[in-house]
Amino acid sequence: MTRVEPAISLAGHIAVPGDKSISHRAVLLGAVAEGVTTIGGFGRSRDTEATIAAVRTLGVEVLEDDADTLRVRGVGLGKLAPSSGPIDCRNAGTLLRLLAGLAAGQEGRFELTGDESLRRRPMERIAEPLRRMGAEVSTENGCPPLVVEGRPLRGIRYELPVASAQVKSCLLLAGVQARRDQTTVIEPFTTRDHTEVMLEAAGAAIRRRPRSVSVSPARRLQLGAVQVPGDFSAAAPFVVAATIVPGSELTLHDVGLNPTRTGLLDVLARMGARVTVLNRRRVGGEPVGDLDVRSAELVASSIEALDVPRMVDELPLFALAASCARGESIVRGASELRVKESDRIEAVATGLRALGARISATPDGFRVKGVPTRPRGGEIDSYGDHRIAMMGGVAGLISRQGVHIHDADSVDVSFPGFFDLLENVAQRSRP
Ligand code: S3P
Repeated sequence: MTRVEPAISLAGHIAVPGDKSISHRAVLLGAVAEGVTTIGGFGRSRDTEATIAAVRTLGVEVLEDDADTLRVRGVGLGKLAPSSGPIDCRNAGTLLRLLAGLAAGQEGRFELTGDESLRRRPMERIAEPLRRMGAEVSTENGCPPLVVEGRPLRGIRYELPVASAQVKSCLLLAGVQARRDQTTVIEPFTTRDHTEVMLEAAGAAIRRRPRSVSVSPARRLQLGAVQVPGDFSAAAPFVVAATIVPGSELTLHDVGLNPTRTGLLDVLARMGARVTVLNRRRVGGEPVGDLDVRSAELVASSIEALDVPRMVDELPLFALAASCARGESIVRGASELRVKESDRIEAVATGLRALGARISATPDGFRVKGVPTRPRGGEIDSYGDHRIAMMGGVAGLISRQGVHIHDADSVDVSFPGFFDLLENVAQRSRP
């Protein structure tokens, strides 16, 4: 259990770990690329270490030059060595779903499984379209273990029933290995596009339209070097904390600002937040900048289905910000939150209510009656979910009495050192 005491304000200059989504993709694509892929700024965490372990099991050499620099010696498309036993994806949905796409175009049998939370998450959403492409895929009542027997694939045109970057990416990774036909994925709402950005950088023929993306079969991929920007989803707790704790001035350096990820900034701007983007630039095909955050009084705002994919991992933090904003905020069209690392609708509503917030769960989101004062504080359970633990930490800073977070170690899934960094920027006495 970890306890976070109230802060008077937040101050300082920080950098957050490398982007988790991009780190997973760099290792996975590096594994099937030609030659060596050098990854700088790798976001080391429990999830991304599971990806390194997985590709090693499949015969790929990964050299860890230092904590955030890796060299992946690619084996080439279709040349992963099937493992004799199951591949443990631990808590990482991104790993399991993307690796399933790679495995589908390979010869051999691949069994993908994970921890208790991952074994409860829906996998028919990838199994069904992979079968249409020609792979043999089985699930256990729709969940992992997932067994993929790769076959010669054909490209398909597929309309995603749910907006999911993981499903889209799985199909693009299968599609690039198809023997014939393009694969086109049509999405109901735009989701993060890191896979298409990286596939293109690796030489694949990608065609992008406003709501769909196509990939043509490729013989070979070559990445060379990938520089991973700071993880926007790791920056988000600090952005929200510095916004809601009065008197704060915090700068976050080198944060990935891919517009498919930064929905929270748009919503916070609508609510009256003061976040300025400085030093905009591009790093390895991805937009990056520094965020200068000053605290502000917020007003309520509502989120619709269209906004959800661009801030899907930030909705718990949005709920916390909304609980400190004047007026009622509503989140709709976010039922996907029920099938994340925890049921995040219940975890957020139960957790924030226990700290004194006025929030109720709905089938596809929440309703928050914001009060612009510090919440009481108390105890919160992370349910083993890193995003809930981080929300609890931020709530501790703005609370009157502090917050105890149960199962706080779950932050290691994406952000080891999160609580230390939070303590570093928290000011507890007046200057
Ligand atoms: C991710 C996509 C999102 C997100 C997850 C990472 C990715 O999941 O919640 O943390 O790296 O593609 P869905 O695609 O299931 O929405």
